[in-house]
Amino acid sequence: MNEFIDAVVEQFARNHTEPESDLHRRLREETYRVMDSPQMQVDAIEGRFLKMLVRLTGARTILEIGMFTGYSTLMMAEGLPKDGRLITCEIDPKAEAIARRYFAESPYGDRITVRMGPALETIKTLSDPLDLVFIDADKPNYSNYYEATLPLLRPGGLIIADNVLWSGRVLDPQDADAHALVAFDRMVQSDPRVENVCLTVRDGMMLVWKRS
Ligand SMILES: C[S@@+](CC[C@H](N)C(=O)[O-])C[C@H]1O[C@@H](n2cnc3c(N)ncnc32)[C@H](O)[C@@H]1O
Repeated sequence: MNEFIDAVVEQFARNHTEPESDLHRRLREETYRVMDSPQMQVDAIEGRFLKMLVRLTGARTILEIGMFTGYSTLMMAEGLPKDGRLITCEIDPKAEAIARRYFAESPYGDRITVRMGPALETIKTLSDPLDLVFIDADKPNYSNYYEATLPLLRPGGLIIADNVLWSGRVLDPQDADAHALVAFDRMVQSDPRVENVCLTVRDGMMLVWKRS
């Protein structure tokens, strides 16, 4: 659900966006049936926007931080070329089990590598340049994920950070997550290594382009 856009307008936008696949619909429905906090999943519009960003950037190597049940993972994998690769990080085995079932069913599943364990540990093992990074895991580590992945990102590459408006709670932060997101947004805004735009898509998406 979009907290910022009128529900009827949001529905119009959904009706005029490439529909989610049957696989995505089933994954979304199962996630809402069996997982706690299913709203963590990106929605159909944000998912299609992620796929579009993969296509527009021509990304071939993607790192996702926060797979959950794999909805955003499958959306981005769909936008990759045949030889493209997506590494995704997760710590929850229940979410992993669901994601792996859907990846096995998907024609794009062979582009995905799941890395279980804390994402900061996984990032330390990476050395190949990344074209695109999607940050969507524990909020207190957003700045750490950014600092750890920016050196791996090729010049001209894109970092996308989700939930950067935190349902508007960034305006009056009251808890650790909100404070961490405000700190992250400020850090990106003042970083001379990048250009950025903070979008009001769903819960706020920060797009960060690495300068040459
Ligand atoms: C907001 S959800 C991701 C939603 C997913 N992108 C989607 O659209 O379905 C965040 C996920 O990050 C995972 N997570 C939390 N801390 C993590 C960590 N330190 N390393 C890797 N994953 C983590 C959680 O288990 C959760 O599944």
